[in-house]
Amino acid sequence: MLSLEGKNCIVTGGASGLGLEIVNQLVAEKARPIVFDLDENRLAALAGRAELRTYCCDVTDERQVEETVKGIVGEFGSIDVLVNNVGVLFSAPLISLSPSGLKLHSSQMWEKVISTNLSSAFYVSKHVVEAMLKKRTKGVIVNISSISARGNAGQSAYSAAKAGLEALTKVWAKELPSIGIRCFGVAPGFCDTESTHVAVNEKVLQDTVTRVPLRRLGQAQEIAAFVIAGIKNEFLNGKILEVDGGLVI
Ligand SMILES: NC(=O)c1ccc[n+]([C@@H]2O[C@H](COP(=O)([O-])OP(=O)(O)OC[C@H]3O[C@@H](n4cnc5c(N)ncnc54)[C@H](O)[C@@H]3O)[C@@H](O)[C@H]2O)c1
Repeated sequence: MLSLEGKNCIVTGGASGLGLEIVNQLVAEKARPIVFDLDENRLAALAGRAELRTYCCDVTDERQVEETVKGIVGEFGSIDVLVNNVGVLFSAPLISLSPSGLKLHSSQMWEKVISTNLSSAFYVSKHVVEAMLKKRTKGVIVNISSISARGNAGQSAYSAAKAGLEALTKVWAKELPSIGIRCFGVAPGFCDTESTHVAVNEKVLQDTVTRVPLRRLGQAQEIAAFVIAGIKNEFLNGKILEVDGGLVI
C-alpha cells in the first residue's frame, strides 16, 4: 500500500465541501495537501494552517494552471497526487415550457459546467503529468465524477461533463501506467454538502432520498475516505467507484 506521508497532493476546489474533507483526511495521513481554488474568502480561512498550502487558481484558465503547477514544482520539487475535484452543478432541462413561453437550456451555463467539470481536469492533469514524468514520480490521479455521469434528466451539461471525465479516467488508466501513473474515478451519489442544498431543491432532494436504499444522503467524510483508500491501493486503476448508498445498482 502507498504511504501518503510527505507526499505532495494537489486537490482542486479543495477550499470547501468534499474537496476540503479530502484535504483534511490527507493531513491525517501526514501528506502535504496543496489546494487550488478561486474563492479567496475560503482560501483565506485556510491560510493559518501550516500543514497545507493554498493557491488562488482558476482551473478553467490553462495559463494560470501552467504557471501554478510550475510554481509548485519550483517550491516543493515534485507532485505525487492530483485530485481533480473541482465541479459546479447546474440543473435545467434542454427545453421547458415556462409562463413566458419556451425556455431553452442556457449555452452560457453549458460552457461554464463543461469548462469547470471537464476542461479543468484536462488542463491540470496535462501539466501535472508533465511534472510527474520529468521527476519520474510514481503518481496517482483521481477524478471526482458523479452518478449523474449515467445521464440524469435535467442535467445535460453536468451529466455530459462527468461522462467525459469518466472517459478521460479510462484513457489515462491505459496511457499513463507506462510512465508510472495510475488513474481512477470516484462517483458520489447525493451528499449532505452545502453545495447540494444550494443547487438542488429540498423537495427534489427528499424525493431522491426515498429512492436511496440506505434512505439518506452521503457524508463528505464517507466519500473522502474512499478517495484516500483508492490512492493508497496500488492495484486500483481505471475504475470508477460509485459511492451512493445503493441509488444506482
Ligand atoms: N456534493 C455532492 O452531493 C456531490 C455529488 C456527486 C459529485 N460531486 C462532485 O464532487 C466535487 C465537489 O463537490 P462539492 O459539493 O464539494 O462542491 P463545492 O461547491 O462545495 O466545492 C467546489 C469548490 O470548487 C471551487 N471552484 C469552483 N470553480 C472553480 C474554478 N474554476 N477554479 C478553482 N476552483 C473552483 C469553489 O470555490 C469551491 O471551493 C464536484 O466535482 C462535484 O461535481 C458532489
